Order: sequence, then structure tokens, then C-alpha cells
Amino acid sequence: MNSWTFNKIAGAVLGTALLVFGLKGITGLIYQTHPASHEKPGFAIEVAEAAGEAAAGGGEAEAPKSIGALLAAADATKGAAEAKACAACHDFTKGGPNKTGPGLWDVVERKIASHEGYAYSEGATAKAAETWTYDNLNAFIANPKGFVAGTKMAFGGIKNDAKRANLIAYLASLSDAPKPFPAP
Ligand code: HEC
Repeated sequence: MNSWTFNKIAGAVLGTALLVFGLKGITGLIYQTHPASHEKPGFAIEVAEAAGEAAAGGGEAEAPKSIGALLAAADATKGAAEAKACAACHDFTKGGPNKTGPGLWDVVERKIASHEGYAYSEGATAKAAETWTYDNLNAFIANPKGFVAGTKMAFGGIKNDAKRANLIAYLASLSDAPKPFPAP
């Protein structure tokens, strides 16, 4: 074999090796950065919900419906199923205990950050002069951090209007004297 042929073969071997190691390097990068996406499961849920909403809304999502209109079409029984996502942190029974979050019995029209024996975040306490109106609950449950800056409620929010309205209708039912829904 003359040295020219040897050079060609050596070049081919080297090239292949570089390609293989290059690919391995790229794959390694992908798999190294991948686990980071698991740190925010709330984000993944949000994206899925937003996608579902867009599909269901058929492009009419721009004009937000009033909470009155949403509640008029809401189903508290379905909301009870939605509330399982909250039950890890909230008790719903009358006189029930505070858990990670405050008890939510009779929360509609209750003063914000007022449940006895619960240590609220500064953001929540700053809103203590306000009330959990249907509108405020709607805003908070859609986007907790957007409504209460620095809230310690670690929950991404329910973006889907119908699901959120069902849930609020369920919350409203947790009362000895449920507050009437606002007009649509
Ligand atoms: C991971 C735990 C967690 C989950 C899940 C959770 N919450 Fe909360 N929630 C909290 C915490 C903690 C607070 C107190 C927030 C603060 O002090 O900023 C709170 C506060 C609230 C408040 C304000 C109550 C008050 O007395 O001012 C409402 C209303 C509420 N949550 C509703 C819900 C609903 C509805 C769901 C389910 C869709 C839910 N939360 C899911 C932890 C949670």
C-alpha cells in the first residue's frame, strides 16, 4: 500500500470516528439538558391545558367571558372532581383544619387572607382589605401568582374557563348560605 492510499484510509477512519464522537456529544447534550424540564411539572400541565383550550375554543378565545356567564353554564358536580387537585393542600369541610393552604369552607365573599390560624404570605396579607368575590377567585385560580404577587400557593392555575367555572361553582356550594352568582 503506498502512502497516498494509507492517508486516504486513515482519513476515512478518522472522519468516521469524529462523526461518531460528535453525535455522541450532541446526544449527551440533549439528554443532559432534558431532566431540567421535569423540574416544572406545572408548566407542562399549563401548556396541555392551553392547547386543549385553543382546540375547544375554535379561535374565539380572545374575548374572555364574564365570570357570570361562565358560572351560569357551570356544573358544581364536575367542579368537585376538579377540586381533587386542590385537596392535597386544602380542606373543604366546615370548621376543617388548615393544611399546607387555609381551609376553603365558605370562601366566597370571605375576606382575603382571613382564615383563622393560618400564616399567609406577605402578598396575600397585602390584599386583606379585599374580598374573595367570584371575580377575584376567578382571577386567582386562573393564575395564582398573577393575582397575589409572591403567593406561597404552589399551583400553576387552571387556564380552562369551563373547568375553572365548574370548580368555582363547587367552592360556592361549600356554604350554609351559598352566595348568588353574578348576572351573566
Ligand atoms: C400545593 C398546595 C396547594 C394547592 C395544590 C392549591 N393551593 Fe390554594 N393555597 C395554598 C397556599 C399555601 C395558600 C396560601 C397562599 C398565600 O398565603 O399566599 C393558598 C391559598 C388559597 C386561597 C386563598 C384563601 C384565603 O383564605 O385567602 C384560595 C381561594 C385557594 N388557595 C384556592 C385553591 C384552589 C381552588 C385550588 C385548586 C384548584 C388550590 N388552591 C390548590 C396551597 C395550595
